[in-house]
Amino acid sequence: MIAPDPTAFSPAEIEAETDRLLRALLPVDCVPGQPWNLERCRSIAPLTLAINRLKREKNAVLLTHSYVEPEIIYGVGDFKGDSYFLSLQARESRAAIILFAGVVFMAETAKILSPQATVVVPDRGSGCSLADSITGDGLRRLRALYPDATVVCYINSTAEVKAESDVCVTSGNVHGIIARLPARRILFVPDRLMADNVRQELKQRGIDKEIISSDGTCLVHDHFTTADIAAARARFPGLKVVAHPESPVEITAAADYTGSTGGMMRYVKSTPAPYFLMLTECGLVGRLQVEDPEKHFIGGCRLCPYMKLNSLAKVYAALAAPRPDQIITLDEDLRRRAARSLERMFELTPAT
Ligand code: 13P
Ligand code: SF4
Repeated sequence: MIAPDPTAFSPAEIEAETDRLLRALLPVDCVPGQPWNLERCRSIAPLTLAINRLKREKNAVLLTHSYVEPEIIYGVGDFKGDSYFLSLQARESRAAIILFAGVVFMAETAKILSPQATVVVPDRGSGCSLADSITGDGLRRLRALYPDATVVCYINSTAEVKAESDVCVTSGNVHGIIARLPARRILFVPDRLMADNVRQELKQRGIDKEIISSDGTCLVHDHFTTADIAAARARFPGLKVVAHPESPVEITAAADYTGSTGGMMRYVKSTPAPYFLMLTECGLVGRLQVEDPEKHFIGGCRLCPYMKLNSLAKVYAALAAPRPDQIITLDEDLRRRAARSLERMFELTPAT
């Protein structure tokens, strides 16, 4: 893999970068059980310096999802957050290059919203079990069975699926948007568990909707159990349990808070509690350890193998000389149709 010239920076520059990295990464482990220290930070400093220099030279912006490694988020990232926040940043970006450290559907979304930019990904294999669960053809077939339904796609879907949908949603606005749609019958793809959560929530609010869904699930959030929650509550009195709407309804019903990764971060930061159980991807715990080091997390998180394909070395390579497979390209007609469902989402999402 292409790598930066190790002599490109002076010893003083490397030491200053090492200090910056250590200050940012100190509260989070480098690998499980081993904290970041001077040596580890010094070993990545030439890479973070080279990436940050390349970004300036090439007018590139680096969007990072909260699930990627903290050295990417805090070492070289320009924007960090959940899918909704990052899609807004992509839409507003005037950068020549958008480098997306997340998964491919997020980078595709950036390309749909910023077609003038070159959008690149560190690893083209960074899929998503939800996005990969249904194709545009599959949705067309499903749609034909329910011609009167409004088709709502979760943003964790391919550009083809977005192009076949009436409106796109994220974990942060899904309830509000579906509640506001005039249609009673909703065809929701691709997350069956998120559909269950929305159905339950709208029923509790007295909103009458029929929600039909396809059968995808997230391989991270479909694995937590109520037994884990009960055991943790018994051991840690005062514990707060935090869940994502991609989880089964019995998990969200047993949690103290359910929301997008951005919502989960806001909840933890604003909630005084002795311990938190984060039923989500471990990267979010890393972000909270960095940004709110007084809080205590008792484990329980899971790794997303797709998010973990991102690395500093791949970020550098994608920026220095992207291979064709690292560049997102979309047919223009497909892009325009996919953009309609995303723009509808922005119209239906109240400004915060
Ligand atoms: P958020 O939009 O809540 O960050 O979710 C993205 C995701 O992939 C969760 O698994
Ligand atoms: Fe997809 Fe789940 Fe990974 Fe998010 S955590 S990218 S939904 S597989």
